[in-house]
Amino acid sequence: MKAILFHEPGDESQLYLSEVADPVLQPQSVVLHVAATALNRADLLQREGKYPVPAGANPIMGLEVAGTVIEVGEEVDNFEVGDNVCALVNGGGYAQQIAVDHRMLLKLPERLSFTKAAAIPEVFLTAFQALHWIAQVKKGDTVLIHAGASGVGTAAIQLVRLAGAVAIVTASPQKHQAVENLGAARTIDYEAEDFDEAVNDFTGGEGADIILDFVGGPYLKQNLEAAATDARIVSLAALGGARVEAFSMAPFLRKRIQLTGTTMRSRTDEYRQRLTADFREKIWPHFASGELQPVVDTIYDWEDVAAAHRYMASNANVGKIVLTIGLD
Ligand SMILES: NC(=O)c1ccc[n+]([C@@H]2O[C@H](COP(=O)([O-])OP(=O)(O)OC[C@H]3O[C@@H](n4cnc5c(N)ncnc54)[C@H](OP(=O)(O)O)[C@@H]3O)[C@@H](O)[C@H]2O)c1
Repeated sequence: MKAILFHEPGDESQLYLSEVADPVLQPQSVVLHVAATALNRADLLQREGKYPVPAGANPIMGLEVAGTVIEVGEEVDNFEVGDNVCALVNGGGYAQQIAVDHRMLLKLPERLSFTKAAAIPEVFLTAFQALHWIAQVKKGDTVLIHAGASGVGTAAIQLVRLAGAVAIVTASPQKHQAVENLGAARTIDYEAEDFDEAVNDFTGGEGADIILDFVGGPYLKQNLEAAATDARIVSLAALGGARVEAFSMAPFLRKRIQLTGTTMRSRTDEYRQRLTADFREKIWPHFASGELQPVVDTIYDWEDVAAAHRYMASNANVGKIVLTIGLD
């Protein structure tokens, strides 16, 4: 089969299509013909040599796939050849075929295309984990979502709406209409406004019950100011840098704030399988009903992967960038 590899860690010019070994079927897995995968920032970091592949993970880039089952392991009885599925995978998405444990598979409802399905697993499972497993979102909560127009942000806004909570979002101004259409109640242009003041104004001084942060060090002080008493802050990335300037941690104590960091890739297979099972039960039916929609910004043929990586690095997307995988 073919896969996208990179010669040396570096820029997009390092990416190339190469012949690699076919995946090996395991008793608990299926082999998929991959129709589409989607980009994640981790792919860009991996290409640059800044994201070491975890032990035991597939070294090929790509953390999510949609496609068709072409082989079934001897211990798998709930999937068959011809089933259309999508899955979060531990690397290996930028390839024509992949072996996936059956416990990670989500069967596609009718009318959900491969390009849309490939845009779901990483961002919706990450947002679901952050909101439901870590922050215990409940009806009426106010949730501040930074980078609200990102892939994870667009998933989080919809899950907040589904939970009966209220989303406040930071994003570049040209993306505000799109996040409002998804259900954001208040949008903040983080360059023109102090987001902590905007959140406190919007909530009558109460602050946000939950904050999903992707910016990191530069936002920690203001996040503590924007947080409500007993707030949960979930730190998912450090797009603005990981270093924190010295400041008073008094609000952290006074407001009893919980701060949790997490990365999906550092989780065990068993954890990701349990997360997928809970997501399958509680969230997956809402894609069939149309209440939840993967947000696809652009679709590239995988031969144009370099352009797709450049586009993600430009920060212009709202939602996901998808790669369709050719057969030849
Ligand atoms: N911890 C986890 O388990 C986990 C899982 C998945 C993804 N992630 C991380 O979550 C982040 C979002 O991922 P994604 O794939 O959804 O990203 P994405 O679609 O590429 O969106 C990223 C957006 O973040 C905003 N941004 C970038 N740099 C910023 C900065 N310095 N300050 C403020 N906003 C900034 C930009 O939007 P604006 O134009 O609106 O500023 C940009 O378009 C990435 O860092 C990714 O690695 C973490």
